[in-house]
Amino acid sequence: MGSSKVGMLVPMAIIMQFVGIKAANILAILTTPTRSHHNWNTPLMLSLASRGHHVTIVSPVALTVPVPNITDIVLEGSLDYTNEEADYASMTKINILEKLSLVKDWYLSSCQYSLSTNGAKTLMEYTKNTTFDLYIIEASGGECFFGFLHKFGRAPIVAINGFGSPEWINYNIGSPYNPSYITSSFLNYDYPSGLWQRIQNTLIYSAAMFLYHYSYLPSQDALIRKHFGEGVPPVKETLNNVSVLLVSYHHSFDGPRPLVPAMIPVGGIHIKKPKPLPKDIQTYLDDAKDGVIFFSLGSIVRSDRMSEDRIQLFLEAFAELPQKVLWKWESDSLPGQPKNVKLGKWLPQNDILAHPNIRLFISHSGLLSTHEAIYHAVPVVGMPFIVDQHTNIEKIASLGLGEKLDYLTLTKDMILSKIRKVIEDPKYRENMKRISAQFRDNPEPPLERAVYWTEYVLRHQGAEHLRAASLDMPLYQYLLLDVVAVLLGSVVVVLVVIWLAARTILRAILRTDKVKQQ
Ligand SMILES: *[C@@H]1O[C@H](CO)[C@@H](O)[C@H](O)[C@H]1NC(C)=O
Ligand SMILES: *[C@@H]1O[C@H](CO)[C@@H](O)[C@H](O)[C@H]1NC(C)=O
Repeated sequence: MGSSKVGMLVPMAIIMQFVGIKAANILAILTTPTRSHHNWNTPLMLSLASRGHHVTIVSPVALTVPVPNITDIVLEGSLDYTNEEADYASMTKINILEKLSLVKDWYLSSCQYSLSTNGAKTLMEYTKNTTFDLYIIEASGGECFFGFLHKFGRAPIVAINGFGSPEWINYNIGSPYNPSYITSSFLNYDYPSGLWQRIQNTLIYSAAMFLYHYSYLPSQDALIRKHFGEGVPPVKETLNNVSVLLVSYHHSFDGPRPLVPAMIPVGGIHIKKPKPLPKDIQTYLDDAKDGVIFFSLGSIVRSDRMSEDRIQLFLEAFAELPQKVLWKWESDSLPGQPKNVKLGKWLPQNDILAHPNIRLFISHSGLLSTHEAIYHAVPVVGMPFIVDQHTNIEKIASLGLGEKLDYLTLTKDMILSKIRKVIEDPKYRENMKRISAQFRDNPEPPLERAVYWTEYVLRHQGAEHLRAASLDMPLYQYLLLDVVAVLLGSVVVVLVVIWLAARTILRAILRTDKVKQQ
């Protein structure tokens, strides 16, 4: 049978839908104001564009070069707005409750700021007649932009999340997150062990969920009302209508968890095949006979803003090491820089970690950097500052992939001993190699999987059939409180009936005994 004949008989649209080649018009609202989120989000957008879809990206960072099929709308200034001067020592010290409200306030204020940018105004000026075939949103952070989804009309939604899978995004897609064995994203242990940790985990989990539902989401709704007027459905409704959620999660490092089929793990999506290094860095790494330590604190924490005395401690420690040090240093110069230290304001982290002479990665242990270290099997000395960085380094240490440095109590000896331990003890690299092999062993590369599921949602115009029934249940039903109440109630009723009957019978017997005795 000739294919042209099929083409004549079957309407073209159906063929295109079947093989999934219909080019879609996609609006991707990716507002989280950090470079690392942007680095994680972008590969999927580029892949979709290269497959013929048109993608309008709304984000804080412009693409480095214009890309065909992509309209780039930049929320100018939002990166700088939220990354102002920070006091790293006090950041490290805050307690869990402060952490909860800090994360909430950061998301709210950055979303509000992003809405005031010219980028947001550009999107505001799109007419109501503009339509999209698909929305891509971040599972957390950009909720105040959901007014646009209402403005441009309904279309299926794919949510993505670059910083792991905290409790509220699991809840919104219907994935179980039982605090008996899954640790709240605000706590640092791997798994809760013992009664006390389970109590603590349950309380923190509940506090996070309470704050999310009764403070965070209503505040986002209020922002939407202010900018888009009344009549926009609550943020919660949009989040519960998400067809598929793509998360930065990989079981090899993040641990086994129950995921509903609509929750697709695509950890490592941002890791590309290494590109050739700039010449000076290539030579520097090639010539290091004792190996190189790569030092980078990521895109939020700046190493040139550490306190003077701590910078000094690192310099003194590095001067005593045989290894070379490649340091992502954001200023022009570093007074007292030892001979074996090379600085770079911007360093291609993934390509550097791929170099065989890299012995150690001194990192802030953010999730994306941690995934890169695992991918390239480079052991880590982690110095965490904020949010999930603390959790990640605890996990790294417990899996024997590296050691933790505490910024507050840092000493030169501490720095030297951790660095030497991780470089000299082969167990760290062996563990890294094992986990790295697991991390890389996937049925398909994570980016391919992400593209597949995004187009799946396009092909089926949503994924209602994947939607967990729990999303429509009130909390008391989800927790089976009504069932427990009825069952416990029945037991109580039965016991009471038995007791009453026994009492009546006993009394009757006693009475007849008394009568006989008389
Ligand atoms: C842009 O999309 C068209 C189809 O809409 C496709 O043919 C073309 O290859 C895309 N361009 C690029 C550079 O990917
Ligand atoms: C969510 O989905 C339901 C059922 O398809 C629909 O009635 C409702 O309008 C949707 N709400 C939003 C905000 O997308």
